[in-house]
Formats: sequence, structure tokens, C-alpha cells
Amino acid sequence: MGPVLIVGGDSLVGSALARQCRAAGVATDTTSRRAGAAMPFDLASPDYGAFSGGGWDAAYLCAAITGMRACQNEPVATRHVNVDNTIELMRRLAAGGAHMVFFSTSQVFDGVSPAPAEDAMPNPRNEYGAQKLAIERAVAHFDLPVAILRITKVVGERPTGVLGTWRRALAGDGPIIAADNLALSPVAAADVGSLARRLATGRHRGIWHFGAADSLGYVEAARFMAVRVGQPAVRVLGETLTEAQVPSILRLGNERLACGKVERLLGIAPKPSREVLAELFARSL
Ligand SMILES: NC(=O)c1ccc[n+]([C@@H]2O[C@H](COP(=O)([O-])OP(=O)(O)OC[C@H]3O[C@@H](n4cnc5c(N)ncnc54)[C@H](OP(=O)(O)O)[C@@H]3O)[C@@H](O)[C@H]2O)c1
Repeated sequence: MGPVLIVGGDSLVGSALARQCRAAGVATDTTSRRAGAAMPFDLASPDYGAFSGGGWDAAYLCAAITGMRACQNEPVATRHVNVDNTIELMRRLAAGGAHMVFFSTSQVFDGVSPAPAEDAMPNPRNEYGAQKLAIERAVAHFDLPVAILRITKVVGERPTGVLGTWRRALAGDGPIIAADNLALSPVAAADVGSLARRLATGRHRGIWHFGAADSLGYVEAARFMAVRVGQPAVRVLGETLTEAQVPSILRLGNERLACGKVERLLGIAPKPSREVLAELFARSL
């Protein structure tokens, strides 16, 4: 593969991808908003000049405002970044000859149907999912050379977010509280990166799903972590999240995606949730 571009190279997925590409000897450019970035780029006030010459075989679109609450609370400002300017960038990259991978989400579904497949009808319940769906529709409308990779909950090298909260709580003496009305279907950033690279190398288009083979309740996941660090599972207590704590539109009923296409066409079998978490805990606990 020739040179590649990762838009949002400091993101969880983008940094895993950058490591893999460089380890494979692929010339890799990454954009960032951070100080000292080799290729500074801000989707809120974009300067597309650096992209005008093209020259990348593949581009991975990782940059986005990924906070669901931020999208819900500021739909206009976040759409400007996540939809309008992202589409403009993708059109320019396509004109320069890059094949793209765009990272979408299971949040394009309403969580009612269990494990929706790639051809299931999207019906987002929140603004984040609606913004991702808007990009998916623009890709079809402009016939852009893009693989749309819908992913579930990505985990990195160490526990972050709610997993990090449980880990810190487990280091203390008190109970570990986990929501009994939330579940996750985790997938490792490294596995997402490997799949994205295969999609780009094969110049695949269309919609692809990737996540775990099942989903796991937060309480079960927290108990699994407790046992891994030598703590009794009974330290984990379930708590039902209220509407005030996390609005139901930000809580999906079924987090699992059916991943038939990657299994059938690429021979990749999604891992069970416990295996994904066990690998994460083995790396970091
Ligand atoms: N993580 C998941 O569980 C998950 C699940 C489904 C889909 N996805 C999608 O996968 C992609 C990667 O997710 P991630 O979790 O790896 O992302 P992340 O770690 O949350 O990082 C977000 C990235 O977006 C960049 N960004 C934010 N606002 C920007 C702006 N105005 N201009 C340019 N860059 C901006 C950030 O740059 P700075 O470093 O400069 O802040 C950062 O690189 C995203 O599109 C996300 O929606 C993620």
C-alpha cells in the first residue's frame, strides 16, 4: 500500500491505526489539532489546502466530536464538524484519489431490533447517530469511494471511561457500582485498525459491521474485571440508571451488531465480549 492519511491521528482508533501502518512500513500522515502537530487540521475551521494535492492511497476518517452528550446538546455546532465539513473533506480526498474508511456507529440503529445486520434500516434515536447516518447517506449520494465501518464500543490499551472508573473503584475499599440497564459489545482498537486496513487495501465500499459476537451487561463486565484483579465479584452492585443520569436516547437496548459481511467475505470472526475484555485486562491490569 502507498501512503495513507489518518484524519484524527491521536484518536483511540487513529493511534492504533497509525502504529499498525508504520509497523508495516507504510508512509503515514496524521492530522491533529494538538500543539506541534506535523499536519494541523481542525474540522471546526478547516483549511483544506494540505489536502489539495492528494497523493494518499487511503484515508481513514477518525476525527469527530465523539461525545454523545455534546452532539445532543449542541447539534448545530457538532453537525458543522461531524457532517458538513467532514463531507467536504471526503469529497476533496476522493478527488485526490484516496480510498476512504469512515468510522460510523451502532448508534445509527434504535436498539429495538436485536443485532441489526448491514442491510437493516437505520433509525437513530440521538443526534450522534443521526450525524453518522447523514455521512453514510452523503457517501451514497456523491458515490464516494468509501467503506463505512460501523463499530460498537472500542477498547484500547487500558481501561478508560466506565472501565477506568471501575478499575479505580476496585483499587479502593468501597462497592463498585455498575448500571444494570446498560450493556456493551466491546471490540479492540487494534482489531478495528486491522479490519480498516483490509477494507482500504481491498478498496472495499459499502457498509460493514464490526463488534463483539455478543453483548455483556455492565454488571457482568464489572464482575469479570473484579475477579481478574483478585477481588470478590460481590463487590460489584447493580444500579438502574435513571433518565436524569443518562437519558434513554443515549442508551441503546441492543448494542450488538450482526457482522455477517466481515465473516463471510473477509473470514473475520467477531470475538466474544469476555475474550475482548480478557485481552484488555491481560494487557493492563
Ligand atoms: N470509540 C468508540 O467506542 C467508537 C464507537 C463507534 C464509532 N466510533 C467512531 O470512530 C471514530 C474514532 O473514534 P475514537 O473513539 O478513536 O475517537 P476519540 O478517541 O474520541 O478521538 C476523537 C478524535 O477526533 C478529533 N477531533 C475532535 N474534534 C475535532 C475537530 N474539530 N477537528 C479535527 N479533529 C477533531 C480529536 O482530535 P484531538 O486529538 O485534536 O482532540 C481526536 O483525534 C470516530 O468517528 C467515532 O465517532 C468510535
